[in-house]
Amino acid sequence: MKNILVTGGAGFIGSAFVRHMVAAYPDYNIICYDKLTYAGNIDNLLSVSDEGNYRFERGDIADRAAVRHILEIYCIDTIVNFAAESHVDRSILDPDAFIHTDVVGVYILLDEGRKRGIKRFCQVSTDEVYGDIEAGHSSEDDRFLPNSPYAASKAGGELMARAYHVTYGMDTIITRGSNTYGPFQYPEKLVPFFTTEALDDKPLPVYGDGKQIRDWLHVEDHARGVDLVLHRGVAGEAYNLAGENQRCNIDITHRILELLGKPRSLIRHVPDREGHDRRYAMTAEKARALGWQRQYDFDQGLEATVDWYVSNEWWWRKIKTGEYLDFYKMQYAQRLASLEA
Ligand code: NAD
Ligand code: DAU
Repeated sequence: MKNILVTGGAGFIGSAFVRHMVAAYPDYNIICYDKLTYAGNIDNLLSVSDEGNYRFERGDIADRAAVRHILEIYCIDTIVNFAAESHVDRSILDPDAFIHTDVVGVYILLDEGRKRGIKRFCQVSTDEVYGDIEAGHSSEDDRFLPNSPYAASKAGGELMARAYHVTYGMDTIITRGSNTYGPFQYPEKLVPFFTTEALDDKPLPVYGDGKQIRDWLHVEDHARGVDLVLHRGVAGEAYNLAGENQRCNIDITHRILELLGKPRSLIRHVPDREGHDRRYAMTAEKARALGWQRQYDFDQGLEATVDWYVSNEWWWRKIKTGEYLDFYKMQYAQRLASLEA
C-alpha cells in the first residue's frame, strides 16, 4: 500500500481514520475524497491540512468520471470507503440519497477500482445490517435482517463488495462497526445531540422508553480497527468491530446530564422512531484474533467526549444553523408538540 484513497474522510469516523493514518504512516500518501454533504466538514481535518502526505479532493463517489480521474492522477492502489449517508432518522424521512451513496456509490467505487486493478478495497459497514438482536451476539456469518432504509442500503453496499470478490477475485474486505462516539460527530447523533442541546437547556427527545440498547465504541478505537483489518484482514472476509459496551439510551442520557450538571427534567419521552431496532450486539473475537484491542473504557471515553463538546463550541455552534434547523424541525417539532397536546 502506498497511495490510499479515503472516501468520506471529512465525516466523523473517516476524519479520525485520516488523522490516524497520516500520523501513523508517514510513507503512505493519504488522499481524502469527500462530497462535503451536510455531514462532511473540512474543520475535522484542520490538524492534518499542512501534512505533506495528505491531500483533499472534493467529489461524489457515485460520479464515475470523477472517481476514475482521482484514481488515475494519484495512482491509487487502495480504497477505504467511509462515504455514506449515515443517519437512520434521515433515511426514514427520505431514503433517496442513501441509495445514491450507500449502494450506487459503493458500486461505482468498486467498479472503477477493479478496472484500475487496485490492490485492496475496504468497505466500512455497520452492525445495523444484522438487524434487531433480541438476545445473544451477531457473528460475522449471521444472516442479514436490516430494518431501516439506512441499514438496508449499507447491506446492499457491502454485499456488492462481497460479490466483487467472489465474481471477479477482487481483494475486498468489510468492517462492521458498532455505535461510535467521540469528538467531531455531527450533532444529530445521540451523544453530541443530547450534549449540545443540554448545554443550551433544551429538551432531550428520548425515543419511546429509552430502553433500547446500543454497543458503544470510541471513534479512535474504530479507526484503529479499520487500519488493522486493512493491513491484516483476509480478502473476502468481514470483521465485526464491536465496542462490547452495551448501554441503554436512557442511562447514557442520565450520564450526559450528570456530567454537565443539568437536570433530568430536560428529558422528554417522545414517540418512537419508526421500525426502531431494540438492541444491537456483536462478538469481537475475529477482529481480536487479528490483534485489535480497544483502548477506551466507555465511562472515561464518554466523559472526555462530553468535555470535548463543552470546550469546542466553535466547532458545533456553526453547524447548528440553516439545514440543521430544518432537519430538527422535521424530525422533532411534531414529536415534542405531541407531548403538550
Ligand atoms: P458521517 O455522516 O459523519 O460522514 C459521512 C461522510 O461521507 C461525510 O463526510 C460526507 O460528506 C461523505 N459523503 C456522503 N455522501 C458522499 C458521496 N456521495 N460521495 C463522497 N462523500 C460522501 O458518517 P460517520 O458516522 O463518520 O460514518 C462513516 C461510515 O461508518 C459510514 O459508512 C457509516 O455507515 C459507518 N458506520 C458508522 C457508525 C457510527 O456510529 N457513526 C457505526 C458503524 C459504521
Ligand atoms: O450501530 C451503528 C450505527 O450507529 C451506525 O451505522 C449509524 O451510522 C449511526 O448513526 C448509529 O445509528 P443509531 O441509530 O444507533 O444512532 P443514533 O445516534 O441516531 O441513535 C442512537 C440511539 O438513540 C437509538 O436507539 C435512537 C436513540 N435516539 C437518537 C436520537 C438522535 C433517541 O432516543 N433520540 C434521538 O433524538
